[in-house]
Amino acid sequence: MEIESLAMALEREHREIDAGIEAFTAGGRDREPLARAVRALRRHIYLEEEFLFPALHAAGLMAPVLVMLREHGEMWATLDALDGEPEADAAIVLCRRLTVQLLHHNLKEEKILYPELDRVVPEPQGERLRAFLESGEMPAEWVCVRARK
Ligand SMILES: [Fe+2]
Ligand SMILES: [Fe+2]
Repeated sequence: MEIESLAMALEREHREIDAGIEAFTAGGRDREPLARAVRALRRHIYLEEEFLFPALHAAGLMAPVLVMLREHGEMWATLDALDGEPEADAAIVLCRRLTVQLLHHNLKEEKILYPELDRVVPEPQGERLRAFLESGEMPAEWVCVRARK
């Protein structure tokens, strides 16, 4: 069986997060899949900012990394609003905003940054990061770079 690359694992996580948001907006307004997607997205951003972007930045991809950091900051504000337990209609509006933010952001990551990961994140570090995607936890107080006061 083919071993899943780090890029593939991250793209799969993009799809899973999209599906969690979709389950809330299209489905029975069950908050649990949405809450899971919010937690997963915060952890996904943590992994990218702490472990992937520094390596990509050092490899010369400074401009796209700066754009991604800015967009993470914008998404983080949406996540904070969703964690503020908005009423159903407000939550839907926030989910639509997050979906648009993710659409543009994830496409750029998948086309520009993730294809470089095999080169800039060698094994066994790649394997450790894939393991983190399975079961790792973000430090409780961690906040994305562009959302820090
Ligand atoms: Fe990202
Ligand atoms: Fe991502």
